[in-house]
Amino acid sequence: MEYITINGGKRLQGTVQINGAKNAAVAIIPAAIASAGVCVIDNLPAIRDVHVLVGALRKLGLSCQFTDEHTIKIDSRDISGSAITYDQVKDMRASYYLLGALLGRFKRAEVPLPGGCNFGLRPIDLHMKGFEALGAKIQIEHGMVTATADKLVGANIYLDVSSVGATINVMIAAVYAEGITQIENAAKEPHVVDTANFLNKLGAKIKGAGTDIIRITGVESLNGGEYSVIPDQIEAGTYMIAAAITGGDVVVSNIIPKHMDSLSAKLTEMGCRIIEGDDYIRVIGSPNLQNCNVKTMFYPGFPTDLHPQMTALLCKAQGTSLLTEAVFEHRFQYVKELLRLGANVKVEGRVAIIEGGTILTGAQVMATDLRAGAALVIAGLAAQGQTTIGNVKYLDRGYERFEDKLTALGADISRIQVDE
Ligand code: UD1
Repeated sequence: MEYITINGGKRLQGTVQINGAKNAAVAIIPAAIASAGVCVIDNLPAIRDVHVLVGALRKLGLSCQFTDEHTIKIDSRDISGSAITYDQVKDMRASYYLLGALLGRFKRAEVPLPGGCNFGLRPIDLHMKGFEALGAKIQIEHGMVTATADKLVGANIYLDVSSVGATINVMIAAVYAEGITQIENAAKEPHVVDTANFLNKLGAKIKGAGTDIIRITGVESLNGGEYSVIPDQIEAGTYMIAAAITGGDVVVSNIIPKHMDSLSAKLTEMGCRIIEGDDYIRVIGSPNLQNCNVKTMFYPGFPTDLHPQMTALLCKAQGTSLLTEAVFEHRFQYVKELLRLGANVKVEGRVAIIEGGTILTGAQVMATDLRAGAALVIAGLAAQGQTTIGNVKYLDRGYERFEDKLTALGADISRIQVDE
């Protein structure tokens, strides 16, 4: 069993390089199935979700070769299967993109219902409705989703919720639908745009990604191509918050500062100094962090994936803060772990009420999901004494070399192996 231990109280200083975006990478890798050529994708983060997906592609018969840690060559010319087993992808959410990719290219896909972080039911009904609107038949039996079609035909699809997953999945499938598909109330997250840019680079005709109407004109086939994944908004935000909670001075580099606007605004409101460059943001912490209210929203709103980390930070601010979770109803499991570190947080419905100014103290805690784990690391950096975090497998799903990067910034953090 692996644990992360942190001796808190160290001020973070220096520069941290951000890797490619997890949520873009996990869409672009399956989307490569839509290509009938060879794709070279770089700036992939070296994280577990990427490796799990690549494993699934190999099982489908694709040749996937890492030319270095962050670059892969995927040859999709010969694919021998269209079915994925539960064991291949059970821990991840983004396996649902295999459905759209296989359905689009082969008109048949068999993929297990997705796993991933547990913060509520996380249905995929909108993905299914989208596929059905394109002409697919969907069957869900024994935990497997089977999608089949004789052909896909473009349609007008209105999403009840601006779901990232449904937007990307339908977009991937619709690349091969005859005529025009229009997705309305589409998600606008940076990884939606990145996946559209990737598919367009291969010859797809997708317009409007990044707005709430996306129009896809079907094509007969996609070529190969080279593509570089965008930087990770959530990894960047995690380090910005880590800088703020330690009163540090950190340059978060290799990012798109515009993607960070909602967080930069909140950190400024709390008293931090934010200095933006072309591809970096410098965060200078404040010894007197002020309270603020935060509501998670779809992009360009405050990302739900930075919610737990933000709660940890608000524990250090003066006064009472409210954090409202508007995307996922049950994202508060991490709170009980923060309480073990001395936090004063109450949850009422979808709102966390955070009494700030608490002295956090080290304790043994468990990561309950990926971003919950990040929040505990952030709290541990500011806590007095030693914090030990279990379930680090969650962190490995989304953060490349987390401890190494924090160590380079001056944190006292390490990973230990304990025989159970
Ligand atoms: C993706 C991200 C995740 C992030 C989330 C919101 C990936 C792999 N994961 O997850 O990190 O937290 O976006 O930014 O990119 N919904 C439905 N029916 C559906 C689909 C979604 O009701 O068919 C609802 C969900 O319950 C949720 C909301 O829509 O309330 C947003 O979910 P969605 O954007 O789909 O999130 P994921 O794709 O699961």
